[in-house]
Amino acid sequence: LARDLVLSFETSCDETSVAVIENGEKILSNIVATQIKSHQRFGGVVPEVASRHHIEQITGCIEDALSEANVSYDDLTSVAVTYGPGLVGALLIGVTAAKVVAWAHHLPLVPVNHLAGHIYGARLVEPIEFPAMALVVSGGHTELVYMPEEGKFEIIGETRDDAAGEAYDKIGRVLGINYPAGKTVDEMAHRGKDTFHFPRAMDHDDNFDFSFSGLKSAFINTVHHADQVHETLNKNDLAASFQQAVIDVLADKTVRALHDYPVKQLILGGGVAANKGLRARLTDELEKFKNTSLELVPLSLCGDNAAMIGAAGEMLYRHGVRGDATLNANPGLEF
Ligand code: KG4
Ligand code: ZN
Repeated sequence: LARDLVLSFETSCDETSVAVIENGEKILSNIVATQIKSHQRFGGVVPEVASRHHIEQITGCIEDALSEANVSYDDLTSVAVTYGPGLVGALLIGVTAAKVVAWAHHLPLVPVNHLAGHIYGARLVEPIEFPAMALVVSGGHTELVYMPEEGKFEIIGETRDDAAGEAYDKIGRVLGINYPAGKTVDEMAHRGKDTFHFPRAMDHDDNFDFSFSGLKSAFINTVHHADQVHETLNKNDLAASFQQAVIDVLADKTVRALHDYPVKQLILGGGVAANKGLRARLTDELEKFKNTSLELVPLSLCGDNAAMIGAAGEMLYRHGVRGDATLNANPGLEF
């Protein structure tokens, strides 16, 4: 039986990653070179720094991905690459590398949307069953995506301002936590209580959109006001109150979406999908949906990685999606 082997690339933000995926579902290798340390002292990702790191890391990542998977270029079926959304200079490194490999080895090139990748991380654990719904929550995105069938993506709700992860990182900074703050805030939240009752924006609106900038401002104002009157606030309670507000809106909107769009699976993906509180809450909520299973992307695949791009890339390849030498990075790419 012929093996379908995808060599996949992901460089949309601050991880340089190359993977080899078999038949769209099995990870043979998934090399992730993180740059987080280089960005930490700036409190966020510096695009120029990111691009430079990608250039330095990409060829080594390709070599490692092939050798760890124990395959050569001749064994490959296709090359898949994230071409958006993301930082344009960062995306360009992956797109250029993928084009070079595809051209040099006469392989089809498959452009992949980064968000489709976050959703398809779930496929590396279990086949996706349609219709499906995905809640994609990351540093750049907060989206509810309805998938009536394989290869079709419809955004039914999205954030109108900050992404969930972005809000975590911004309030984390106020608490003195290093970038990216999500994981630490999550841990603190579990040691605190929701004593501040921050606003849950748009929670009861009749749509599936989100807004986190009001919550972020309420949080920052609370901390600044306490500073001015020399009052010390409990940081764990602040974290717990923030996290509870985020989880409440994410869960409430997702549950409402599942009532309007009955699906076989709900997929939770993206960096913020690693959040323990969110995973627990959705697990609870999904008990009430007997015909919908919950697919939590495993913690190791929630952050940016090329394995998820390979999983989505193989599906797109079967659907005839192809790129050529004119493929360009598209920083504002939508489905
Ligand atoms: O998907 P990702 O690796 O990169 C983007 O495509 O944005 O997501 C990174 C984001 C960061 O904002 C980080 O703070 C957040 O995911 N994050 C978390 C947790 N782990 C990472 N947010 C909340 N709780 C977590 N446990
Ligand atoms: Zn991402």
